[in-house]
Amino acid sequence: MAFCKDFVWGAATSSYQIEGAWNVDGKGLNIWDVYSHQPGTIDDGSTGDVACDHYHRFREDVKLMKEMGLKAYRFSISWARIFPKGYGEVNEKGVQFYSDLIDCLLENGIEPYITLYHWDLPYELHKKGGWMNEEIVQWFATYAAEVVKHLSDRATYFITFNEPQVFIGHGCLMGDNAPGYKSTYQDVFQMAHNVLKAHGAAVKAMRAAAVRPIKIGYAPTCSAHYPASERVEDIEAARQHLFECPPLGERVLWNVSWWSDPIIFGHYPEDGLALYRDYLPQITAEDMALISQPIDFYCQNIYNGHETAAGPDGKPYETQRPFGYPLNAMVWPVTPECLHWGPRFLYERYRLPIYISENGMSCHDAVSLDGKVHDPNRIDFMQRYLLEYEKAARDGADIRGYFYWSLMDNFEWTYGYNGRFGLVYVNFQTQERILKDSAYWYKNWIEEHS
Ligand code: FCB
Repeated sequence: MAFCKDFVWGAATSSYQIEGAWNVDGKGLNIWDVYSHQPGTIDDGSTGDVACDHYHRFREDVKLMKEMGLKAYRFSISWARIFPKGYGEVNEKGVQFYSDLIDCLLENGIEPYITLYHWDLPYELHKKGGWMNEEIVQWFATYAAEVVKHLSDRATYFITFNEPQVFIGHGCLMGDNAPGYKSTYQDVFQMAHNVLKAHGAAVKAMRAAAVRPIKIGYAPTCSAHYPASERVEDIEAARQHLFECPPLGERVLWNVSWWSDPIIFGHYPEDGLALYRDYLPQITAEDMALISQPIDFYCQNIYNGHETAAGPDGKPYETQRPFGYPLNAMVWPVTPECLHWGPRFLYERYRLPIYISENGMSCHDAVSLDGKVHDPNRIDFMQRYLLEYEKAARDGADIRGYFYWSLMDNFEWTYGYNGRFGLVYVNFQTQERILKDSAYWYKNWIEEHS
């Protein structure tokens, strides 16, 4: 077996997608509360007001995690539960909720992995300019330190950001996620720079606030390109394609190196600096020193990638996907190879311990006449992806963990409740939970690989 002895087998969720309780116990509004209430933003017209009602049912949910044999649980904190206005007065009830959740996890032998920001920006900060306002660097650092001050006596693993590609790229450039902006390139590159600075400032503040040594990571995402063959040229082409900066366009921020090189190497990638030159904010040596605070581990959310080959000129090109290729229920491609080559390439470049912080499949799940939820496609997906992931370890990548997305069906952003990714089926009318077949399969896999 190639997975290391202490390999972390877990599942992930995020606050807005599961908690519900959107306006109780002093929580402030966040941009997703406001966005989802605007007509026409969410496919099925739903909101996260109740979602899985996890805020009230977390003990039951932790029991399910235990039943599945999970070793770790990745969840995110709702900033506006801790600071209803984004900064200033702390909402003690919000802190208490996460504190109770951690106690419950630890009592059940489950290690918490805490994401500080999974897209739900306090609305009060949004009104002050959100990621455009440079003060957000300090607002985020203060929030992160406050969380760590209260929770680091028991929790060790903290992750700053989840998928900046999405909350800036989709949220502020493409405009199809909250807050729904179609900003200029100038503005989104400024926002991206502020996100990176906020990450660095938070790392510093968290280390200073920790009551015990903590480990800090970062969770961007990528389309993890993989080679069309084992030919050296194709491998090189896939590697190059994975790390190159895309040209200006809607998906300009959907890349690896713009978001990770500054943090790990202390500088932006040369190709991006040249391509985006006319739109960049002022970038100082001081900024780069702040951004590149050492971190302890590196996460990636990987769902799929594109097969890539070397053209006659050696340049990478994406091969045509075969007709009828496998898709998930949200019509995302199923490409298990991405979990072999993605982590391998990422480790070769960044040399930090790697976690897959999200990977999973949405299916057309329903309760069968026998009362069970049969999801053979998800089981097949997990098996194929995990077998590929294991190859990354064989190739020498220092892979430490895997978090299936998601622990349970939840509010899948603009898809509403139609994107069921869970190991646990949720009936959103009754809040009944049912372990899907895949949950039992995963339990077995974890036992065999622990
Ligand atoms: C990722 C998000 C996560 C979930 C999955 C399906 O991009 O981080 O919240 O929506 O996709």
